[in-house]
Amino acid sequence: MKIGIIGTGKMGSHLAQHWVEKGHQVMFGSRTPEKAVELAKQFGGKATGGSMAAAAEFGEAIVLAVPWHAAEETVRALGSLEGKTLIDITNPLLPEMAGPDTEIGTSAAEQIAEWAEGANVVKAFNTIYFVNLDNPVFGGKSASMFFCGDDETAKAHARQLGKDTGLAPVDCGPLWMARHLESVGFLWIYLAFKQGKGTDFVINMQRRN
Ligand SMILES: NC(=O)c1ccc[n+]([C@@H]2O[C@H](COP(=O)([O-])OP(=O)(O)OC[C@H]3O[C@@H](n4cnc5c(N)ncnc54)[C@H](OP(=O)(O)O)[C@@H]3O)[C@@H](O)[C@H]2O)c1
Repeated sequence: MKIGIIGTGKMGSHLAQHWVEKGHQVMFGSRTPEKAVELAKQFGGKATGGSMAAAAEFGEAIVLAVPWHAAEETVRALGSLEGKTLIDITNPLLPEMAGPDTEIGTSAAEQIAEWAEGANVVKAFNTIYFVNLDNPVFGGKSASMFFCGDDETAKAHARQLGKDTGLAPVDCGPLWMARHLESVGFLWIYLAFKQGKGTDFVINMQRRN
């Protein structure tokens, strides 16, 4: 799959490591294209870098790996996303983790879908800490990757990329379910950082057998 990763930070780079190993083509997009070019070099010629719009143009699936506060500006700078899969991994938090930075009855993913006209938005990867992506096996089982969206092709992309990250994808239904995925993300962050439970855990869907 051709994947455009918008943002050169922790999540984008850790996800890319899995995906290039699985043979996907990755292009990083940055506000500073040279930064994306430099990051791509760490992937042994298996990734490229450029502007955010170039990475969006490149990808059939585009991963929005920027802070929530930068999401609107970023999405509007990507150019036409008509028919493309846009995977939103953001966790919309107020400063000091005071609460979610969204109104009741909506989600970051749904707002992104409004800004990214024509794109098929999927919420995914927001409940997994970037360090845990490197070894996502807990208690002998792959960590869950909760995802949701309204377009089946886009969801198939997210499911495949979740599997290729070593995660166990869990289809959570339509895009509005992102409200609840974002709550799970918030719960994880609250437990880890506000309650000091550490980061070496995941929130899973675990069956008895
Ligand atoms: N960290 C985690 O474990 C984790 C887990 C799940 C979800 N998430 C979510 O994933 C997204 C990315 O998180 P991250 O930890 O990868 O963040 P990060 O390390 O800070 O990287 C974010 C990247 O976004 C780009 N960016 C674009 N506009 C920006 C702006 N105005 N201010 C700062 N950076 C900007 C930057 O790349 P350029 O400078 O190259 O443009 C930056 O490297 C966030 O929405 C976060 O909530 C994070």
